[in-house]
Amino acid sequence: MQPDYSKLQFDRQGNLRHFLSIKGIGIELISQLLEDAEKYLTAPGTLAPRSKSLAGRTIGNLFFEPSTRTRASFDLAGRRLGADVLNLDVNTSSRKKGESILDTIHTLQAMQVDIMVVRDASDGVPAYIARNVDDHVSVLNAGESDVSHPTQGLLDLMTIRQHNNDFKNMVVAIVGDIQHSRVAMSTAEALQTMGIGELRLISPAALSPTSDRFPGAYVFDNLAKGLKDADVIMALRIQRERIGNIEGVPNIDEYYANYGISHDSLEYAKPDAIVMHPGPMNRGIEIEGSIADGPRSVITKQVTNGVAIRMAVLDRIGQMMNER
Ligand code: NCD
Repeated sequence: MQPDYSKLQFDRQGNLRHFLSIKGIGIELISQLLEDAEKYLTAPGTLAPRSKSLAGRTIGNLFFEPSTRTRASFDLAGRRLGADVLNLDVNTSSRKKGESILDTIHTLQAMQVDIMVVRDASDGVPAYIARNVDDHVSVLNAGESDVSHPTQGLLDLMTIRQHNNDFKNMVVAIVGDIQHSRVAMSTAEALQTMGIGELRLISPAALSPTSDRFPGAYVFDNLAKGLKDADVIMALRIQRERIGNIEGVPNIDEYYANYGISHDSLEYAKPDAIVMHPGPMNRGIEIEGSIADGPRSVITKQVTNGVAIRMAVLDRIGQMMNER
């Protein structure tokens, strides 16, 4: 059973307390967070924006799965808002010795950690923690199994909106391992909240989503058809860690030939289409290196926007805590 995110994420006054899913977050709050995040962008080489909204607060980054971008950006976002940030080293933490999640979070609460940023391979873990922390603690989902990665959804939305804000007339094509992608889930939910014109999901049949995962989206197994006149192309990483021995998953060469984003496949999309990837990339598998580094790519913009979005979310939580 899915938690009721429209209740679980907000406090009694209706303020955002936990950020666990795009589900239950309306268009108004999403738009405000995107506006707030834009204010945290400054020109390269100038000083990064800072504020004191989290001064005196402590953030615990609990990443029980690998991460580069998400963890580093939550870390920077927290520090730039004045918080102390504790990065728990998973490989040396006691969870490796079999300590329960609850014991881990109670330990962090006893050290006055105010905000827990959680990544975990099992679904339901962020919501479970949110239900079990003390009233003054907030929980943010930084990647939950293959189901949800809400700050990624927002940073993708922000990046798309910088290119084109006419969501109603937009075609977004997500290409790759749709079945195992929490990024696709949250980005799709964010786009659908904004009233996206057409959302297309392109993958080999063996990696296509089960029917109820993406209501309203169009599913393709042919890249040329799926990319036709697209405004936005988002390539996804093949999630080797989540794939068992799925029959029918093509080998790497076959995959690249049929689903890789190359100069040839870009021809199907609109001439000004942007190319996105959440990272980490497998160059030469889901995307040609020269496309990732080329003029149509907004992949590094996604990373920059990721810090800004996490600042916007953390700042809102900090304000809620300061008003209590
Ligand atoms: C993704 C993730 O971990 O969900 N990366 C990210 O957070 N930017 C995508 C992936 O692992 O493929």
